[in-house]
Amino acid sequence: MSTLFRAFVAAKDDDAVDRSVRELTTEDLPDGDVTVRVAWSSVNFKDGLATIPQGKVARISPLVPGVDLAGEVVESDSDEFAPGTSVIVHGYELGVSHHGGYAEYARVPADWVVPLPDGLDTRQAMAIGTAGYTAGLSVHLLEERGLRPGDGRVLVTGASGGVGSCAVGMLAERGYQVVASSGKEDAHDWLRRLGADEVVGRDAAEPTGRPLEKPEWIAAVDCVGGDTLSGVLSRLSYGGAVAASGNTGGFALETTVLPFILRGVALLGADSANTPIDRRRRLWDRLATDLRPRHLDEAAEVDLDGVEQALDTILEGASRGRTVVRVTG
Ligand SMILES: NC(=O)c1ccc[n+]([C@@H]2O[C@H](COP(=O)([O-])OP(=O)(O)OC[C@H]3O[C@@H](n4cnc5c(N)ncnc54)[C@H](OP(=O)(O)O)[C@@H]3O)[C@@H](O)[C@H]2O)c1
Repeated sequence: MSTLFRAFVAAKDDDAVDRSVRELTTEDLPDGDVTVRVAWSSVNFKDGLATIPQGKVARISPLVPGVDLAGEVVESDSDEFAPGTSVIVHGYELGVSHHGGYAEYARVPADWVVPLPDGLDTRQAMAIGTAGYTAGLSVHLLEERGLRPGDGRVLVTGASGGVGSCAVGMLAERGYQVVASSGKEDAHDWLRRLGADEVVGRDAAEPTGRPLEKPEWIAAVDCVGGDTLSGVLSRLSYGGAVAASGNTGGFALETTVLPFILRGVALLGADSANTPIDRRRRLWDRLATDLRPRHLDEAAEVDLDGVEQALDTILEGASRGRTVVRVTG
């Protein structure tokens, strides 16, 4: 039976993208094994890019954006996910070439689905969302390489944003000595409350043109990329590593081989979209326990009518922390 529901839709129209809340029916949903009544989604930088003409993220039009969602299974052809099961879905093609989380219903392949771990409700899961998952993955990658609390200072760049603020909260909760780098003067006190031991300006990681600088940090979680990542590489201590996930500061990376061959540093790529599903489910178990950030219930909230403004804010680099989208929650 077809059900009418509300969705935020981005539709390309020549050189512009029309963004509006519309009514769709369950017949408009793509194929998939599992239909979810979406309770919460969230606002990520990639969602902003999916709704602007030059964004290079949306692969279909019209598209329901929303690269993550949490809700309850209402129909299922999968033995793993019976109706009534609470689930999380993010990444893969969601909100890119497959309708995403900014709608009251979503239909997805079963092998994209993560059971909601004990200890998180669906709102908290989206307060983590794609950005928090990426922060958690970054910490996990650094720890897989051997990083432990007590090893030294760990830098987080873009600290006031979604990935950055989650990384600050996670690292602090695990007992790391956290240095938060932020271009927002008015976010410094807030970052200390999240758990940063020190807050520095963006200039702390700016490149100077010299291939190696005085070592400052044993590790870094970087979602800014560009010149910032280049500056981080030149200041990592011997044996240090940076987990790189983003490009808010640019795509191009200028560096030399010297940090790698003289200090043995490592550049670890963090990709949230295509993590194999078993690894993804295991990481969510960590996000609900030892990687759970301390400020989960502080996320800002919008409904479907407020999504457009929230996307503009994140594209301007002006949002602080995480914003969840109340869909039917
Ligand atoms: N690899 C993946 O799977 C993955 C997953 C999620 C996100 N990402 C990427 O990670 C990045 C951050 O995503 P997000 O959702 O956390 O976005 P966000 O909330 O907008 O955070 C980005 C932060 O970067 C800093 N920033 C913005 N413009 C900058 C500039 N020109 N130079 C230096 N710093 C700048 C700002 O922090 P301050 O003002 O505090 O400096 C901003 O809050 C994006 O590039 C996104 O595409 C990648």
